Amino acid sequence: MKVDGKPTRTIWLEGDGWSVGIIDQTALPHRFTTVRLTTLEEVARAIATMQVRGAPLIGATAAYGVALALRADASDEALERACAMLAATRPTAVNLKWALDEMVAAVRNRPREQRLAAAYRRAAEICEEDVAINQAIGVHGAKLLAAIAANKTSGGRAQVLTHCNAGWLATVDVGTALAPVYVAHDQGVPLHVWVDETRPRNQGAALTAWELGQHGVPHTVIADNTGGHLMQHGMIDAVIVGADRVTANGDVCNKIGTYLKALAAKDNGVPFYVGLPSPTIDFSLSDGRAEIPIEQRGADEVATVTGLTADGRIERVRVVPDGSAVANYAFDVTPARLVSGLITERGIIAPRRDALAAAFAQRAQTSSAAG
Ligand code: MRU
Repeated sequence: MKVDGKPTRTIWLEGDGWSVGIIDQTALPHRFTTVRLTTLEEVARAIATMQVRGAPLIGATAAYGVALALRADASDEALERACAMLAATRPTAVNLKWALDEMVAAVRNRPREQRLAAAYRRAAEICEEDVAINQAIGVHGAKLLAAIAANKTSGGRAQVLTHCNAGWLATVDVGTALAPVYVAHDQGVPLHVWVDETRPRNQGAALTAWELGQHGVPHTVIADNTGGHLMQHGMIDAVIVGADRVTANGDVCNKIGTYLKALAAKDNGVPFYVGLPSPTIDFSLSDGRAEIPIEQRGADEVATVTGLTADGRIERVRVVPDGSAVANYAFDVTPARLVSGLITERGIIAPRRDALAAAFAQRAQTSSAAG
């Protein structure tokens, strides 16, 4: 996608051919800055501190983390250590584990002197595959938005609500939940996006609003609790969110607050879609609520808010009294029964075990063989 009109991705190999560039997402929307990652430890820190975030981008960054680790030491022990360190950075998004498994498979059976080149090759492929997958998600999902817009009286726009950031910043490029929005917008489909601010870290207000604005997509930022009201008043045609992990039976784990949007959508007859690439499916799990590990993050994210002061400084201010207990659950699980459809690279799939297994037979079989 474009930043100030210039095609940009969230992650790239630098001109030296080995170090890795990323956008520092903690500085957006106020500053666009990039960071050069040169070691495994720097990659692990960038993921843990959420300079990079979003399930597919976490996986892609971790893949390059393995390559950087092998650059220092291509032994089996170093590979194992790197995977353990990276896997511990963020527990919920399964794309991280998927990418690490892919990297291990790409290098494990090679002699040491071939491992580094193989690792860089596979990391680059993971990035390219992500972009192609997301483009396909966009094409499938754009048909839904075009159909909604076509049913509107003249001048009406398809009204989409999204939560958190599952746009291009959360992926290598294009996005997942927002891919249909970008493809439809580029096709000339009239649409408008309601953007949940998404406390505590405000990925909606800071990142989704920024990237939609950069691409010229009409949007409005709303406080997190607004969606139900808008749905009751017929102001939303479809909810589209991303996912950090989807179980074999179609339960969807995504940013905290997603479940409440799905409940409101069900109560108001608004279709609730999830945009996801197949590496987000965890065929080894069947009950999202019971089995998906939910990341709990630091209290500071809830107790404080970060923003731009009138004189241009980025500052963090406290909004919770000293001494109040604070809890920070980063994700929740929306049961499959509340999901209208899973927008994947292979089309829009019912959130059911048989439908997912039929669409991604090889992944489903590999998982049952491993389990
Ligand atoms: O904590 P984050 O910012 O990594 O959470 C991001 C989300 O919840 C996204 O919706 C999800 O990763 C899908 S990204 C295409």
